[in-house]
Amino acid sequence: MKISIIGSGYVGLTTGAVFAEKGHDVLCIDKDINKINRLKKGVVDIYEPGLDEMVRRNLKKHRLSFDSSIEKACNFAKVIFLCLPTPPLPNGMADLSFIEEVARVIAGSISEYHLIVDKSTVPVKTGERVKQIIARYSKKGVDFDVGSNPEFLREGSALDDALTPDRIVVGVESKRAELIFRDLYKPFNANLVVTDINSAEIIKHAANSFLALKISFINSVAKLCDTVGADVKVVAKGMGLDKRIGTEFLNAGIGYGGSCFSKDVNAFYAICRETGVEFPLLKEIENINADIRQYFVKKIQQELWIVKNKKIGVLGLAFKKDTDDIRNSVQIEVVKLLGDLKGIVSCYDPKAMKNAKKALKEYQNIAFVSGPYEVAKGADALAILTDWDEFRRLDYSKIRKLMKTPIIFDGRNILDPVEIKKAGFVYRGIGRGYYEKE
Ligand code: UGA
Repeated sequence: MKISIIGSGYVGLTTGAVFAEKGHDVLCIDKDINKINRLKKGVVDIYEPGLDEMVRRNLKKHRLSFDSSIEKACNFAKVIFLCLPTPPLPNGMADLSFIEEVARVIAGSISEYHLIVDKSTVPVKTGERVKQIIARYSKKGVDFDVGSNPEFLREGSALDDALTPDRIVVGVESKRAELIFRDLYKPFNANLVVTDINSAEIIKHAANSFLALKISFINSVAKLCDTVGADVKVVAKGMGLDKRIGTEFLNAGIGYGGSCFSKDVNAFYAICRETGVEFPLLKEIENINADIRQYFVKKIQQELWIVKNKKIGVLGLAFKKDTDDIRNSVQIEVVKLLGDLKGIVSCYDPKAMKNAKKALKEYQNIAFVSGPYEVAKGADALAILTDWDEFRRLDYSKIRKLMKTPIIFDGRNILDPVEIKKAGFVYRGIGRGYYEKE
């Protein structure tokens, strides 16, 4: 099937590559001509494991192409996906101006049936608005459908998530649109949840908010575990093995970051309010998330007493492992807090150094070094902030020898406290109070 994708950012490019991989003919559009020129040569700007190979493979097979004209996208395919940014406005609502603008251009470019599908994360009732705009700005009598097909892929595992999704949600208004979706997703062999457009839009916001809720919930439980000397990991396991709860997204740590959770929880709160529904739980999820990074830094202060002029090695700046993304990175915020306390901070991340350097350039007391052992040299403490697998496998006895005082703050609970204490470290995690009793 032929598919056009408008917006070749994270979601658009991954979606395009994956559809092409499954045998569809895909045209990806972006208004950034430089980006399109690079993509035409198989150069992918973002780091996502396997994505550049997949793009190059499908370019070669002529199943994937790139352009910057929306008009071409409309001529190329009957199915058009909108994968556009919906950044937060100061009031928490999503900025839908990119969607509205593109909908108007599409309206002016179509003269026969098209299915226009929103894949960007949008508040409920956006589909209704898109439909209104296309009807208003297109030639009289042009036949079209709108649909909603929210994306659930995670950065760092985007290809696996998109190739083998837990479910595919499609919101439609007609049998014709439903049949197109069924055809499109046939090669995926996945659970298809077919529903109306409003419900599909709510599913996306509710799913991300619920995942954020799980994280904030376990982070609050972690504080209790610290206070009474219990272990949040075993508490999470004991809870999560109840199938009704599930073990995933119960990893306590310095909180969630990234371009989605905070934005979506706030946008969900805002749209609820706009429709007259109070949902204060959503605000609390965010409050807890903002607090837990402070809690972590206080732990460091408590242990070191004075942070000023202490050398603190930081492992991890990306908002999660396997990405170079630092958007809303809690890690960057923690480094800033340590910088504000006048610590001498030395950082390392396997992929996010370039982005982090830009974000932290005002800080004279924050340096970047070439590897994890460099970070440890002469350090009064080490703070692990991102859950990169390579940080689990470091030679910690070597690290102990390199450090001035062997204290580890494990902001992602990735180390085994028993082993790490055996290696001669003072260990401080999030909710690992059981192991921190002296
Ligand atoms: C999230 C959702 O998981 C995807 O389903 C969704 O499609 C995506 O947002 C989106 O809306 O585009 P993503 O933000 O890429 O994906 O990454 P996650 O794996 O969800 O992690 C988000 C944050 O939560 C990270 O900072 C991670 O470290 C943190 N986290 C995750 C925890 O602190 N504890 C956990 O147990 C899990």
